[in-house]
Amino acid sequence: MSLPKVFITRPLPPPVVERIATGCDVKVHREDAPLEPMQLAEACQEIEGLMAAGARVSEDLLEHAPRLRVIANVGVGYDNIDVAACTRRRILVTNTPDVLTETTADLSFALLMAVARRVVECDRFVREGHWHYWQWKYLWGADIFGKTLGVYGLGRIGKAVARRARGFSMRVLYYDIVRPSPALEQELGAQFVDRETLLREADFLTLHVPLTPDTHHLISAREFAMLKPTAFLINAARGKVVEEAALVEALQSRRIAGAGLDVFEYEPQVQPALLALPNVVLTPHVGSASAETRLAMAMLAAENLLAGLEGRRPPTPVNPEIFQP
Ligand code: 8YV
Repeated sequence: MSLPKVFITRPLPPPVVERIATGCDVKVHREDAPLEPMQLAEACQEIEGLMAAGARVSEDLLEHAPRLRVIANVGVGYDNIDVAACTRRRILVTNTPDVLTETTADLSFALLMAVARRVVECDRFVREGHWHYWQWKYLWGADIFGKTLGVYGLGRIGKAVARRARGFSMRVLYYDIVRPSPALEQELGAQFVDRETLLREADFLTLHVPLTPDTHHLISAREFAMLKPTAFLINAARGKVVEEAALVEALQSRRIAGAGLDVFEYEPQVQPALLALPNVVLTPHVGSASAETRLAMAMLAAENLLAGLEGRRPPTPVNPEIFQP
């Protein structure tokens, strides 16, 4: 019997490719850059399994991939995949939750600290030779300890950020559409508040929601108007959760104090207005980018792919309903 054909969209680490090759006939895109939609469609013509890293899977692509049975996304968010179209075709979709939780929470906290204490501006100040003597008033930032962290979305990553905040003696408020158990709230030291209270009281508002039609432009001019003028926005979730034009306006007019952003509405395009602002720290969607975590994500995706192709239930399915008879 011939092995199922699999395509991997990026040059993932050799142990991962070798693991998949134990049960599949594997082809790897050798460049660490996205394929054009037509190239991807061509690569998917014969395959049964797709390992999607930094790739968009549209219904149009599915039309070009009649044998496709499993799509293993290398990422927890799967807004890059038309899951409904996959489910209609009984194509299994999987993602990589848990393994990247702590790493992404670290990056959220790094952005928070960097923007509050102006770390990037300080670095530039030193490098550009402006440091001639100690000054009483230069590069003053905002304190972090004792401040209020507003966690919007208390899922896996939101909880991990809340845990970090405890170590900084922060008051933690959160809002979510579902309220976890009182025991968990107690463990995290996080208090549930309504959406408006969260926005009005947060010194740092950190976003941890997936991108869905309901969360698109969740933070817009109306929400910026509720934030404190001293508040900072942290977004390592998805760019489209924030209406970027409203964010630019809020930053330019000093309606808020600053922002730490790992994701952008039209990434990899970043608005020139954002690039021009000193009170913004920008990173290029690197929330999960540590060596250990990227390997763990790729390995989990590989296990998902193999299980799906062998007809076993994968560790982390997105659309398990396809297993219903
Ligand atoms: C991925 C991410 O790097 O997991 C996610 O949702 O945003 C990142 O960890 C990105 O999705 C590319 O695959």
